[in-house]
Amino acid sequence: MDFVLENALVFIGSKLIPKSVLVKEGKIAALEQSVHAAKRIDCKGNILLPGLIDAHVHFRIPGGAQKEDWSTGSAAALAGGVTTVIDMPNNNPSCTTRKALADKEKVAKADSKCNFAFHFGASNDNMRELEQVDGIASFKVFLGASTGNLLITDPAILRKVFSIAKERNIAVVVHAEDEDIIKENTAMAKEKGWNHAKYHSKIRTCEAETKSIEKALALQDEIGNKLHILHISSAQGLELVKEAKQNREGITCEATPHHLFLTEESTENLGNFAKMNPSLKSREDVNALWKGLRQGAIDLIATDHAPHTIQEKEKPYWEAPSGVPGIETMLPLLLDAVNKEKIELKTIVEKCCIAPARVYGFESRGEIKVGKDADLTLIDLQKKKTIKNGQLQTKCNWSPFATWELQGSVERVFVRGRLD
Ligand code: DOR
Ligand code: ZN
Repeated sequence: MDFVLENALVFIGSKLIPKSVLVKEGKIAALEQSVHAAKRIDCKGNILLPGLIDAHVHFRIPGGAQKEDWSTGSAAALAGGVTTVIDMPNNNPSCTTRKALADKEKVAKADSKCNFAFHFGASNDNMRELEQVDGIASFKVFLGASTGNLLITDPAILRKVFSIAKERNIAVVVHAEDEDIIKENTAMAKEKGWNHAKYHSKIRTCEAETKSIEKALALQDEIGNKLHILHISSAQGLELVKEAKQNREGITCEATPHHLFLTEESTENLGNFAKMNPSLKSREDVNALWKGLRQGAIDLIATDHAPHTIQEKEKPYWEAPSGVPGIETMLPLLLDAVNKEKIELKTIVEKCCIAPARVYGFESRGEIKVGKDADLTLIDLQKKKTIKNGQLQTKCNWSPFATWELQGSVERVFVRGRLD
């Protein structure tokens, strides 16, 4: 149905401008002082942003439906102002074949309330699949083991994956933590009897991240493929990426809300509910990430929404899975940061809408412009809300940010102009 959004301040270009937004057949049809449409929606007092694109989510299908599925995951996305997600392949079984991809796509088509795309897993033995798969956002490589069984440590295989990516002009996205360092530190930690999430950053260290980033960058330099470093967490790691970006094209990186809003100290109280990979780091690292965001070294913000059930997280440290949900809380956290003058609204739109659309090639999304998809997120920058466990859309229904009162809320979301 066609409609007009009236009286909002609309994010156009890099400014907030009072405009009426006409939505026709799922597209933005006009941006005028006033336009006519049978259905009018009053947005007085609110700001209209492009729908957010979360380029890093784990919606857990197949194999993890107790944690999340496309119905709950996409509901959480909408609650968080996110209109497009890119889902990760570390499922059970992993998404490393065209058949697995087609199966996943079928489920997402049936169940998802938001737009979606997929990262495709690179494994030790799926080179033919990598050569032939189409319609994906990237090849995902785990350089250090995490949830699931995707891990590539053999340099020859890694070189092959990067080469196929280069030939096919597909980006490689990497989870950069060095497997050898993690293994060594794990043995040391077990010997010492460490058994709490507060030690997680002493096992999955800054060094583990930097060594792995170094390796990925060196290979990318040699082969010349596009490389995206996922969830960067350390100052040193970011320095490496910054340097490499100054020398050559094709490198991008992201930061997650948990690495921006929590520190390793958060694990004292949260325990396994703040256990994730890469680990949380120090206040200095967090400050460096914020600086990287403001100065442009970090291209985009993505959540790494990685839900696990409360029961799974309540297991002892070594058995509890790594990962935290985040898709519902990203935008409120960032809007609160705008209110606290830590970041500008236009930086949020750049990092959460424009940049992910550019990096992943969603030409019809990411901006409010005539002709683009009507993926729109209406926010209230004043309204305060408290994040509460048990009141979330994600199936796991908890958040590491529970009890945080945030100023800035998501009021309504439109996906391709749908009114439901
Ligand atoms: O903490 C994490 N959780 N890091 C990952 O790399 C995977 C993710 C998950 O899937 O649970
Ligand atoms: Zn992830």
